[in-house]
Amino acid sequence: MNIGIDKIGFVAPSYVLDLADLAAARNIDPNKFKIGLLQSQMAVAPVSQDIVTLGAQAAQAILTDQDKQAIDMVIVGTESSVDQSKAAAVSIHGLLGIQPFVRSIEIKEACYGATAGLSLAKSHVAQFPTSKVLVIASDIAKYGIASGGESTQGAGAIAMLVSADPRIMVLNNDNICQTRDIMDFWRPNYDKYPRVDGKYSTEQYTDCLTTTFARYQEKTGKSLADFAAMCLHIPFSKQGLKGLQAIAQGSDLERLTERFHEAIVYNQIVGNIYTGSIFLSLLSLLENSQAIQADDQVLFYSYGSGAVCEIFSGRLVEGFRDQLDSQRLEKLEARTRLTVDQYESIFFEELQVDDQGNAAELTDTAPFALHKIEDHKRIYRKG
Ligand code: HMG
Repeated sequence: MNIGIDKIGFVAPSYVLDLADLAAARNIDPNKFKIGLLQSQMAVAPVSQDIVTLGAQAAQAILTDQDKQAIDMVIVGTESSVDQSKAAAVSIHGLLGIQPFVRSIEIKEACYGATAGLSLAKSHVAQFPTSKVLVIASDIAKYGIASGGESTQGAGAIAMLVSADPRIMVLNNDNICQTRDIMDFWRPNYDKYPRVDGKYSTEQYTDCLTTTFARYQEKTGKSLADFAAMCLHIPFSKQGLKGLQAIAQGSDLERLTERFHEAIVYNQIVGNIYTGSIFLSLLSLLENSQAIQADDQVLFYSYGSGAVCEIFSGRLVEGFRDQLDSQRLEKLEARTRLTVDQYESIFFEELQVDDQGNAAELTDTAPFALHKIEDHKRIYRKG
């Protein structure tokens, strides 16, 4: 049975910060971000947007009422949870009005979570072929003002509908994972922002890739010559390029580098969206490459600090372009550009919850937004 990605959607919050402006404010050469990190902008989420509202918007953009009747599992991958107990998938299920007989869960393993969700979705459809699974990757990446990772921040959500006979990509059965118990990036419960051993994390990203790819080749007999494109986890675009350069040579490197640049168009202007970054790269490839075609094989490298990584692949399906949004870049370019002062007050604003567990009402005209906190409960509003 062919199982894979039937639909894919994405939403970024409506604010954006230009990294040239950030560089000027931090007294850094703008080329460090533009050339050194290959990044140009970051998406900025206001306090009225969180992983629930972003995830719901990304999913709403792709789902029909028929899909909402057929979905029997909702999986949210995230490392920016709004609750230590209740899964964001439950709130999203409610906001979207999906039929009730559904398993809804949240998966955490840094930037790897949604990849695990995709594998679980595939297994579920293999067991129940008429099922559809909604997999959402939703995160808000904050490192803090003037921190080492500040220029790599971002926010956004990817939604994927996984089904039999998918219209975008069939997922192959060639997944190889690796787990390494390391402290390259983590966030203790008492910290607002992650702790990161920056240089070490970049080395681990690449070493996990080279060692897992060696194992992948050994187990599957496949080589880079089999692939038209590669999508990697993109914490910042230069990291992905370095990963590609670590495993590819000659004409493979040339071909895959051309596709790589098409696969980072969105990542460069959104920033790191953690567990959704690899799928944002896929969406960018699908919507910005004229070179890829049906039956092409795409290789994936998913990496989540801590660390778990996975290499897997998929095959593009005839007619995949019919499922895409040709206006997406224009919509992203229409976001409201913030000054650095506005970014600092919007991105780092926090709700003040009083002794009764209430916080003031918020105004946000997005299709889904946090309305208020009442009696310690997050109350969402559908626009
Ligand atoms: P840094 O120390 O600020 O930057 O930290 P740098 O000095 O290493 O410079 C970065 C690059 O810019 C270098 O290029 C410089 O040469 C270049 P490279 O040598 O590496 O190719 N550069 C310039 N280029 C042109 N003109 C200039 C200029 N100046 C410098 N004037 C670091 C960089 C990535 C460490 C920092 O941004 C950071 O800590 N980021 C967060 C951690 C991260 O993204 N790690 C990536 C791997 S781990 C991962 O992917 C998982 C993650 O997504 C989390 C999760 O799983 O949940 C992060």
